[in-house]
Formats: sequence, structure tokens, C-alpha cells
Amino acid sequence: MAYLSERKKISVQTIVNRKAKGVPVTVLTAYDYFVAGLLDRAGIDIILVGDSASNVIHGHGSTIPITMDVMVAHTAAVSRGTEAALVVADMPFMSFQPSIETAVSNAGRFLKEGGAEAVKIEGGIEMVDTVKRVIECGIPVMAHIGLTPQSIHRFGGPRIQGRKKKSQSYLKESALALEEAGCFSMVLELMDRQVAAEITSSLKTCATIGIGAGPDCDGQVLVINDILGLSEEGFKPKFLRQYADLPPIISKAVEQYIEDVKSGDYPNDEESYTDK
Ligand code: KIV
Repeated sequence: MAYLSERKKISVQTIVNRKAKGVPVTVLTAYDYFVAGLLDRAGIDIILVGDSASNVIHGHGSTIPITMDVMVAHTAAVSRGTEAALVVADMPFMSFQPSIETAVSNAGRFLKEGGAEAVKIEGGIEMVDTVKRVIECGIPVMAHIGLTPQSIHRFGGPRIQGRKKKSQSYLKESALALEEAGCFSMVLELMDRQVAAEITSSLKTCATIGIGAGPDCDGQVLVINDILGLSEEGFKPKFLRQYADLPPIISKAVEQYIEDVKSGDYPNDEESYTDK
């Protein structure tokens, strides 16, 4: 791949500048080399190696089981496939919560071994000291507030955040504190759109990236499998727009292959080697 001459490398500063200029930031997840290359060449700004890999790649029911080693391997594959987009690695459950030292050394692994350029850390104001130290070590941080899937058991399910006064205050205070800590961007997940709009206009240097948080964020993120129809059947939250339906295309190709092998049609003469 060598098309960087046509497209500028996206940095964390590019994302901050986009907020200032009001140019929307586009984000999708990817977990492997090939898909990362497709997203990059299509012009995506940020590729997030989400811990949603736990669900959509590894078949777990939540993001809780995925480990650092697995996330680092996905990140390294994505980085190898990416030239222009900013690669952000998602810090998995228990890779940053136990202590600031744990957070710093695991965040460092994503840059040293995974080739990422930033990490994402879930949590609000309670995570500020951790986020600050990671940034002080030279690692840019994307924050993540609202519905934070690693705390799904505390939330009791995928509940929309910011509907009650207490939740609104917590989200707004968290957003300001995380910007003050130095985060360059912040995912706002499953949140009342008015609260997301107010957070977005209250932040000056931290771009908000919405998922189920309405149209007034500085950018949007979706899970690649979800937009291609490659996730759990029946998973259709209101915010999700599906852009392609790949399962029937894959099934048709596989069924045809099975039929061709069984009938002796594959491989034919052109698909076979001879010594002539
Ligand atoms: O893991 C993930 O894919 C995410 C996005 C949905 C923001 O955290």
C-alpha cells in the first residue's frame, strides 16, 4: 500500500482541528489487517480496534472476557493494514481499572507491540487520574462515557444514559474533567441526544464521537460488523444503520462452492496444473 501521497495522515491534532472547524469525524471499528485496509482506503478518519471484538469476532456475550493479549494481536493486524487513518486501541476490562501502573503499562503495550497511536479508556470522572498519567506518558487517550459496556452488569443492561438529573450531571462533569485531563476525543454511547449536544458544545478541544447519541456530536462511530449485517441476528438498536447485508452473499458463495466440489465442477482444467 502506498497511497499516502494522495491522502494526509490523520493525527490526534487533525481530530482536534476538525472539531474547531466543524468538520465531522468518521470512525469505524476493525479487528483485522484486510478490513482495516479497506476502511483506510475508503477514507475513514479513525479505526477503533474495539473490545467489541469480544462479541462480534469471538462470540462472547459481552466485552468482559477479551484479554490484553488478544486485543494487542488484533491491534497489530489492524496497524499493519492501515496507512492514513488514526489507529485507536480499546483497553479491555481490567487492563486499566486495578491501578494507574497497570493502565500505563497496558496502554504502552498497545503502542509498542500493537502499533496503535492512541488508546480508548472507558469511564467518567473516576478515571481522570488514570487518564492523566497515561497522557503524561505520551499516549493520547480517547475517553468513553455514557453506556460503557465493560460496566454492563452495573447498568443492568443497555439503558439510555442521561435521562435523569443525576446522570446528566455526572456525564457533563465527567466530560469536562476528561477534557481537562487532556483527552483528544470522547465516545458518547447510548445517551439522550440533548445531553450529548450540550456536552459537545461545552468541550473546546475534545471531539465527541457519538454512538446512539444523536446528530450533534463532532463525529460518529459504528461497529463494522453491525453495518455489514455480520452481527448477532436480531441485534438492531434504533441508532444502527445497516449499509450492507453480507450474510446471504456469503452463504450463497459457500453453498455454490459445496455444490461445485460435490458435482466435480471444481476444480476444472483451467484451475489445475499440468507439466505442459
Ligand atoms: O468496542 C467498541 O466497538 C466500542 C465502540 C462501540 C465505541 O467501544
